[in-house]
Amino acid sequence: MRFDILTIFPRFFDSPFSYGVIKKAQEKGIIQINIHDIREFAEDKHKTVDDKPYGGGSGMVMKPEPLGKAIESVRLSNARSLVILTTPQGERFSDTIANQFSNYEQIIIVCGRYEGVDERIRELYVDREISIGDYVLSGGEYAACVIVDTVSRFIPGVLGNEASPYHDSFREGLLEYPQYTRPESFKGKRVPSVLLSGNHKEIEEWRRKESIKRTFLKRPDLLDRANLTIEEIRFIQELKKQNPPPFRVYVALVHYPVYNKQFKIISTAFTNLDIHDIARAGRTYGIRGFFLVHPVLEQRELAKQVLWHWTEGPGALFNPTRKEALKLVKLTTSLDEALYEITKTEGQRPRVVATDARPQKKMVGYQELKEKIFSGNEPYLILFGTGWGLAKHVIENADYVLKPVEGPTDYNHLSVRGAAAIILDRLLSR
Ligand SMILES: C[S@@+](CC[C@H](N)C(=O)[O-])C[C@H]1O[C@@H](n2cnc3c(N)ncnc32)[C@H](O)[C@@H]1O
Repeated sequence: MRFDILTIFPRFFDSPFSYGVIKKAQEKGIIQINIHDIREFAEDKHKTVDDKPYGGGSGMVMKPEPLGKAIESVRLSNARSLVILTTPQGERFSDTIANQFSNYEQIIIVCGRYEGVDERIRELYVDREISIGDYVLSGGEYAACVIVDTVSRFIPGVLGNEASPYHDSFREGLLEYPQYTRPESFKGKRVPSVLLSGNHKEIEEWRRKESIKRTFLKRPDLLDRANLTIEEIRFIQELKKQNPPPFRVYVALVHYPVYNKQFKIISTAFTNLDIHDIARAGRTYGIRGFFLVHPVLEQRELAKQVLWHWTEGPGALFNPTRKEALKLVKLTTSLDEALYEITKTEGQRPRVVATDARPQKKMVGYQELKEKIFSGNEPYLILFGTGWGLAKHVIENADYVLKPVEGPTDYNHLSVRGAAAIILDRLLSR
């Protein structure tokens, strides 16, 4: 594998590739790293590589001619070669992409500086745009180091033990198990006895379990890619029981005050499916309570009967899991009553989050709200409206208004139970 790095600061690379396995791989001839000074491809006597942006604005832009010439001059015509542009706007670099890149014979990495490179370089020469994370570096050289190192690790012979990159964190959707070396005891902390047992089967099993546990606790998002046995999936269920979610979230389904089609304030009737489905979604995602808000006594009496059937009556025996979900439901006459109940339980008034299918003036995004909710600092009450949505004053009085659920199309007319399930998943999934 040959790497060709195009930079205006060639001395930057004086040391990063001079240590460890990358140094050895170069010495063994497994990889070759060539650093090219883009200035050498500039034709004017000042060796200019940047210029002011067309249309004005701050900073400088890297000129296309020297870069274009540099790429053309280093690209091998008879090899599988790939031109990478380092840019914060590119696809997020990962272990999977590094593995893919290791199959090329030549990788050319363009290091941007200033405000980046002229757009035509991207259009004419670049095969892949790569970002190493959602932050802005002062130059692509840092990203180039990351790319060369991670790709090289996948090239046979670079690591002492060829299987190693496949055991490291991220492979197969799991983080690596904890590692220990001598001494056996350090400041009173002992190495787990199984690692001293010499029993390889037990060590293997312990490591696999620790790997799953770590991934569950630190990066549960990775588990989606993991290939787990039924026993291992059960083990994760156990971990969930031992590690309940850190948040304190309640949900309210509001039947008054909401709009009808003519935008008049009304109260709607209970819908059995909404009660069942939101309770089940709520139990799945770990909410602490589900308030059914209705001011009409007859409606509350009706809901009470339904709830009795499933939580204490024949339905409870027939379907115990439904009982578990519907036990979350509490009937209240108003939103204020729900707020009072939560404040009493949590010792703190919850932050109120309104939801609506129509965009509102000041809205919060899912990621931002999720971070607040997961901090566990405050309880939250998420309001879902029935009919044509929550009354304006309810939305205006909320602490946050969540952005409407959007899919990849321009259609967003969801049932309240559909929207509630999606919103709970976006806000509360680990
Ligand atoms: C100051 S940045 C330019 C940022 C550019 N104005 C923008 O907002 O997209 C200069 C150079 O650093 C490199 N760079 C910055 N952030 C990066 C990231 N997250 N991943 C990869 N390269 C990055 C790119 O080569 C970029 O051209």
